[in-house]
Amino acid sequence: MLSIPVKKLREGMVVAQSVYSKAGAAFLVKGKPLTAQYIKSLEKIGIPSLSVTSTDPRFNILPPEDVVEEKTRLDAIQKVHDVFKDISEKKEMDPVGLTAVADKLISDIFARHENLIQLTDIRLYDAYTFAHSVNVAVLSAMLGKVEGISEADMRILVLGGLLHDLGKIKVPIQVLNKTGKLTAQEFEAIKAHPTEGFRRIHEFGKMLPKWEILAIIAAQHHEHMDGSGYPKGLRGDQLHRFAKIVAIADVYDALTSERPYKKAYTPSVAYGIMRTNTGHLEPELLEHFFDNVALYPIGAVLKTFYGYGIVTKCEFGHTRTPTIRVFANKKREVLTSPFTIDLKNDSPHVIEKEISGNELMQFTHNLSLDPSKYLA
Ligand SMILES: [Fe+2]
Repeated sequence: MLSIPVKKLREGMVVAQSVYSKAGAAFLVKGKPLTAQYIKSLEKIGIPSLSVTSTDPRFNILPPEDVVEEKTRLDAIQKVHDVFKDISEKKEMDPVGLTAVADKLISDIFARHENLIQLTDIRLYDAYTFAHSVNVAVLSAMLGKVEGISEADMRILVLGGLLHDLGKIKVPIQVLNKTGKLTAQEFEAIKAHPTEGFRRIHEFGKMLPKWEILAIIAAQHHEHMDGSGYPKGLRGDQLHRFAKIVAIADVYDALTSERPYKKAYTPSVAYGIMRTNTGHLEPELLEHFFDNVALYPIGAVLKTFYGYGIVTKCEFGHTRTPTIRVFANKKREVLTSPFTIDLKNDSPHVIEKEISGNELMQFTHNLSLDPSKYLA
């Protein structure tokens, strides 16, 4: 998996991350080969870079399977968009449609239980909040599954994820996407969204199952375990368990997405950040969450104790120590006989770092080698 500057993309390279342009519409779907037309459009839109499975189309590598089908994800994004719009404009919502979307997400997650959370998508313009809501719902459900919650509760968790940012309908899109420093007034508008979401679910969501809990999730998803969150500064023992789960999913998705004001962090960097901010998130839930996330997704290039390797397999519960194919020694000399090693029996410390972004481009250039050929 290589993140390539758009200028260096070539026809036939296989897309490794979907790009959503507006509610429920995929501009680019992962797994498809790039065309000249798409490359031109990406440049026009102003996307800086895109992940592809390999620089050489002949390798024909497909991206790893997602935990939900692309169609399920697109339908869900569209539905969240519609629900937000209906509440804002018509002062009504469609509880049956939204619950059906939640149920489809859950059935996909159970049917594809062997898949891990892999690379995230790219969201353009106003698609962010809707795609983010769906991702938070999926990530929350994945954690709920590890925690062994019932299927009925799973539904609440997914609906809670889909609606957690409902209060953002009151925040202007220019403020949500602002790259510069927020004014005090703009910051207040953003900080009001949990309470606003709580209020809207009370007003329009009473046809949804366990709507009181959905409202609590919206109200509490920015609270922290140590009381440093907002809006109320509640502490861990005052927080609903589902709000703690959604908070983890929310932070992870925000960190790993590209925003107008920040770059996307890799999953492993996000893991480091989330663990360092002790006091914000529930530590045990956090560790369980990362059992399900491909910290080093298939195709990631790692510098390890054994040399440089590309991740070929990543398993549930062993996401910190994947299987790699070592192709170069520590002096960056390409091996004549590359070898595969499962790091499961090693300490996570054998991984010195992940090579990504510009560093990876430079690295592959210097070696005159695209490591993804070891995946073919
Ligand atoms: Fe939020």
